[in-house]
Amino acid sequence: MYNFDKLLDRRNTDCNKWDALEKNYGNANLMPFWVADMDFEVLPELKEALIKRASSTTYGYSYPNEQYYANIIRWYQKRHGLKVKQNEILNVPGVVTGFAFAIAALAPAGSKILINTPVYHHFMNSIQLQGFELVDSPLICEENGYYHIDFEDLERKLASGVKIYLMCSPHNPVCRVWTKYELQKITQLCEKYQVLIVSDEIHSDLVFKSHVHTPILMASDYAASHSVLIAAPSKTFNIAGISSSFMIVPNPELRTKINNILKAFHAGVNLFGFIASEAAYGYGEQWLNELNLYLEENAKFVCDYFKKHLPQVKVTPPEGTYLMWLDFSAFGLSQDELMEKLEKQAGVALNNGDMFQPAHPGYVRFNIGTPRFYIEKGLQKIVEAFAG
Ligand SMILES: Cc1ncc(COP(=O)(O)O)c(C=O)c1O
Repeated sequence: MYNFDKLLDRRNTDCNKWDALEKNYGNANLMPFWVADMDFEVLPELKEALIKRASSTTYGYSYPNEQYYANIIRWYQKRHGLKVKQNEILNVPGVVTGFAFAIAALAPAGSKILINTPVYHHFMNSIQLQGFELVDSPLICEENGYYHIDFEDLERKLASGVKIYLMCSPHNPVCRVWTKYELQKITQLCEKYQVLIVSDEIHSDLVFKSHVHTPILMASDYAASHSVLIAAPSKTFNIAGISSSFMIVPNPELRTKINNILKAFHAGVNLFGFIASEAAYGYGEQWLNELNLYLEENAKFVCDYFKKHLPQVKVTPPEGTYLMWLDFSAFGLSQDELMEKLEKQAGVALNNGDMFQPAHPGYVRFNIGTPRFYIEKGLQKIVEAFAG
């Protein structure tokens, strides 16, 4: 049994979440529930593998060995039922780098790229900062906070000349694990309008019981040959600082185009990235199974807590990830007022919902990848600030 109840002292490790509070929120003493990494100790075998390699005295160029590929391939087959061939895997430092390169390689300059807001803010950045045209098909939120795709709107937008549909699967921040049926409907529409799919699946291993992640490459025959899947052990195993990600691209033409960009920028994974990934996928199954159970309990705890103590907050029930999307709009505050109250009165640092969907005041993202007692303390402070 792994212990996820222990709060690590992460201060003075140059970590964003704890050490950059002053820089980002102007107050080093806030309780951090923001940037997406977790406060849990990593898998022991992963730490050992890094220490072993770090204790040698050279750190020159290195390459991914056979075991690195074998572990990714075995992981995908066993956990997701996807057969991956070694030559379909391209290594990239980060998932954002991966989708930014994929867009640059596969879409004509300035063309239309479609997303579903609210969504991880780097989706917007990678599209707009590279001079592409952002097309948004906003997700629909039901009364109970559950989000889904507006298929009529999606079709209208795809028909408008979109070249790439940049998907977030599972979705950050609304934490939907798209069903196979939804993915099939998406890919039917993409086939109809000949749109390529780039699917960010960084959260695909963090899925709760009774939900199943379907890799985009398994959604349909069209998707298998017209999609790029991007994933990483970074969120799953809490090693985001190590920068080790990969793309799975079965279509050789798409793969060559992306690989050319990777070569042009000489972009790859560093030696510690390969070692960490190999260990994570080699030894991490049980750790992850226990983590997912813990996170699901955390999510339930947060849902129940708000229902009991501050029912004005609408909580989107997550189907996976360690993030939660909270709607405080019932308080009628502007986004600035909401953030100020959370930070100055409650003393907590959450992600501003504005990052994920501008001009929709009232939303914040809450990171539950931390011990439950610490979440409870944070929630108590939020309730005290808002319940008065
Ligand atoms: C959906 C999604 N994609 C990508 C990333 C970041 O990936 P990377 O750090 O590998 O670029 C995050 C981090 O929170 C994320 O939530």
